[in-house]
Amino acid sequence: MRRVDLLIHHADQLVTCAAPQGAKRGSAMADVGIIPDGAVAVDDGQIVAVGPSKQICAEYTARRQIDVYGHAVCPGLVDAHTHVVYAGDRVEEFEQRLRGQTYLEILEAGGGILTTVRATRAASLDELVISAKMRLDTMLALGTTTAEVKTGYALDVAGELKMLAAIATLAGAGDDHAHPVDLVPTFLGAHAIPPEYRHCPDDYLDEVIEHMLPAVRTWYHASPFICRKVPLFCDVFCEKGAFDLRQSERVLQAALALGMPVKIHADEFNSLGGVALAVQLGAVSADHLDVTSSEEIAQLAASTTVGVLLPAVNFHLGNAHFAPARAMIDAGVAIALATDLNPGSAPCPSLPLVMAIACRYQKLQPAEALNACTINAAQALGMGDRIGSIEVGKQADLLILKQPDYRHLMYQFGVNPVAEVIKRGQTVL
Ligand code: NIG
Ligand code: FE
Repeated sequence: MRRVDLLIHHADQLVTCAAPQGAKRGSAMADVGIIPDGAVAVDDGQIVAVGPSKQICAEYTARRQIDVYGHAVCPGLVDAHTHVVYAGDRVEEFEQRLRGQTYLEILEAGGGILTTVRATRAASLDELVISAKMRLDTMLALGTTTAEVKTGYALDVAGELKMLAAIATLAGAGDDHAHPVDLVPTFLGAHAIPPEYRHCPDDYLDEVIEHMLPAVRTWYHASPFICRKVPLFCDVFCEKGAFDLRQSERVLQAALALGMPVKIHADEFNSLGGVALAVQLGAVSADHLDVTSSEEIAQLAASTTVGVLLPAVNFHLGNAHFAPARAMIDAGVAIALATDLNPGSAPCPSLPLVMAIACRYQKLQPAEALNACTINAAQALGMGDRIGSIEVGKQADLLILKQPDYRHLMYQFGVNPVAEVIKRGQTVL
């Protein structure tokens, strides 16, 4: 008998989301790899064995054993698109939109993202860390064990580096602020055109390309992320009123030239060709995709770029139209779901709620929704080899659910379906 740190056994469903081939597509998305009466053995923070309880309990003994009879166990959820670091809120804008103003009209008038830019520029590093930590606590309680975090609310060199410092502090850059949620940083300097460049957006792009990107890359090389082999992405908001296709391409090409992997916010309101650009550049993901054409869906399906859908945005904006998730899955796109947690378009920390919305309005099956928040979300962060499924060799990020059937994750809503969160083999909540 081998002795390990932790043995979790007699799960009614051990939901593995196993995908030895990487991202799941097509009919594979409907399979979450359930082992009935399953067990998982963990040592040194890693999964060492997965299988039926009878077999695993005969082969392993552990310092800590958890009998999870009556519960399902699934991988920790991966939130592949968030803006969790920001200052202030947008409650006023929420009311404005309820009165009929649109998201892009508010941005055009100097509000929206720019409201958060003013607040974030004025905030100290400590204020950013403390407010983001509270949001991450909520996300963790709701089952998120890894989250991507974007900059893009400072839009100047010092402020973007302050946002990155906040992310690094929360990731545990040398002091005791480390949050249990693993963070993956993304530079989103091209999120909006800052007020001081309103009449010369291309000059702002020059600033992003000539000063911000090199400074950010230098920061990354001295950050904890590079040693942990966690990537730093570059993203751009390709949209009317933000950056057009040509400008988006300039930023992403410059990032690629510096060796940074890229992502894109594309087709949230208007289709500018951002998806084709993402495919052409080999982007790790293309996100939003609310108005993506069938032609671009086919291009995405034939690529390695993951389509990250953000239905909490549509919900929060009161929009009855959602990204055509069914058509994407049927065409063979590897899709992920994420919250997009941000103060403007989705003040939502909950992946279970996102899955609940995706099932009802995008007609995802529960299995498709869970794969989209685990293995495919990990793939959308280029980390599918480490997280996102319960497979031997992966990080032991696990959720013990309150119910015996994982489908309660999306069937119930407005509740927390998670009983216990295990991060790298340790109970953190
Ligand atoms: O993904 N669309 C651009 N960026 C965010 C919203 C940011 C904000 O409104 O503060 C998004 O929806
Ligand atoms: Fe976003």
